[in-house]
Amino acid sequence: MKKQELDATNQLYQDKLQKYFNDEVSLVFGDGNVDSEIVLVGEAPGKTEVEQGRPFVGQAGKNLEEFITILGIAREKLYITNVVKFRPVKYSSDTGRESNRTPNKEEIRISTDFIEQELSIIKPKLVVSLGNIALRCILKDDKTTIGMLHGTPIDVKFAGGSFVLFPLYHPASIIYNRALKDVYLQDLLKLRDYMNNKSLH
Ligand code: URA
Repeated sequence: MKKQELDATNQLYQDKLQKYFNDEVSLVFGDGNVDSEIVLVGEAPGKTEVEQGRPFVGQAGKNLEEFITILGIAREKLYITNVVKFRPVKYSSDTGRESNRTPNKEEIRISTDFIEQELSIIKPKLVVSLGNIALRCILKDDKTTIGMLHGTPIDVKFAGGSFVLFPLYHPASIIYNRALKDVYLQDLLKLRDYMNNKSLH
């Protein structure tokens, strides 16, 4: 039932993006256990994710898997998705090489309805946002930063329902900033305690 509803929502998003880009676009939809009480929300897929058609399977995904192990939960038990389901890219003016970039405001705006619908279908009790983009999209507040709210559970009303939001830094951020690793670990331990106290799995 949830699966059919998600498929229908995904099809609408695909149609909308095709009109927006006036072209076919490769999308990476949410993946995992649709009955999970816990949903992880990232920013947008990268190259490896588009190649494999699954979120968080590249380098950021490797870090994420390590973190999920610390939480004591199997990845298959969770539902994992992104705010933006296509890969935003930029091209180097020197080499012409393609690389990932942060989604822009318009790309996030056209994707927000769909992540709302996705969450209203899954109905999680806990949403773990990964990085600034997911945090701001869910709180509908462009001024919030992950530095202010990481590791703090927040009650959120969203898509006609409610859940607790637990903001984490993006798992890719420790690739670029090793100093964050300790902070990340502390946040994960807080998240693990929260999940155990609420018997979430
Ligand atoms: N980063 C994200 O935010 N999402 C992915 O799926 C991969 C990398």
